[in-house]
Amino acid sequence: MTTHPNKVALITGANRGIGLETGRQLAKLGFTVLLGVRDLAKGEAAVRGLDGHVEAIALDVAAPEAAMQAAAEVERRFGRLDVLINNAAIHYDSGARALRPDWTVIREAFETNVFGVWRTASAFAPLLVAGGHGRLVNVSSEGGSLASMGAGAPAYSTSKATLNALTCVLAGELRGSGVLVNAICPGWVATDMGGAGGRPVAQGAAGIVWAATLPDDGPTGGFFRDGKRLPW
Ligand SMILES: NC(=O)c1ccc[n+]([C@@H]2O[C@H](COP(=O)([O-])OP(=O)(O)OC[C@H]3O[C@@H](n4cnc5c(N)ncnc54)[C@H](OP(=O)(O)O)[C@@H]3O)[C@@H](O)[C@H]2O)c1
Repeated sequence: MTTHPNKVALITGANRGIGLETGRQLAKLGFTVLLGVRDLAKGEAAVRGLDGHVEAIALDVAAPEAAMQAAAEVERRFGRLDVLINNAAIHYDSGARALRPDWTVIREAFETNVFGVWRTASAFAPLLVAGGHGRLVNVSSEGGSLASMGAGAPAYSTSKATLNALTCVLAGELRGSGVLVNAICPGWVATDMGGAGGRPVAQGAAGIVWAATLPDDGPTGGFFRDGKRLPW
């Protein structure tokens, strides 16, 4: 097992679900893990359930200034960030229809699932670049794949499709910097969002950890589940 004793990883939306399990797995690999949370009390409770060097950090990705503040705090306290996992997302609106738009839900979905990722990536990019081997992982969904998109979940699926586009743009801008940028679908996972019947959270998180620990000659600008390419 490769260990990463001096590396720092930040995961957004990490007090429960796939984000929390990703933190557990990265801590086992030796990372210092920062659980990005919008409620620090929930974050501290999550930290108590994990082994290793794990801390909670305030980061509501929908709040305009929060990512810049968190980046400044990480730089001041740790002086580096090696892995950023944009995991926080909301509004799997599976029963909704695009032709009966709920603009509140649609706007909120884009604020968190797209603009939240965008703000967080841009705030932390300087630290990822400075380390020379950064890994930026956007947790997406096959629901955002244009290749298979159809009716249903309009806010969620269009926000994840936009996230996939953003992944390609970020990968392009960071090409040659040593930072690898990929979108990962965790599969259908039994969480609050996924509901009962999905696969165990450990399996969903494993593909994210794979992208977070890619070697320097690993892929960038791709869309993967379980380490295998998905169509955009
Ligand atoms: N579960 C699935 O089947 C599935 C399938 C495909 C893709 N995914 C993707 O996997 C990722 C994780 O999903 P999940 O199933 O673990 O979801 P989840 O159980 O609903 O957990 C979502 C997490 O995001 C946090 N969050 C929401 N809004 C936030 C904000 N503005 N700022 C910071 N954190 C915020 C939540 O925090 P609070 O506790 O404060 O609400 C929670 O920790 C998402 O990107 C999702 O789209 C999931």
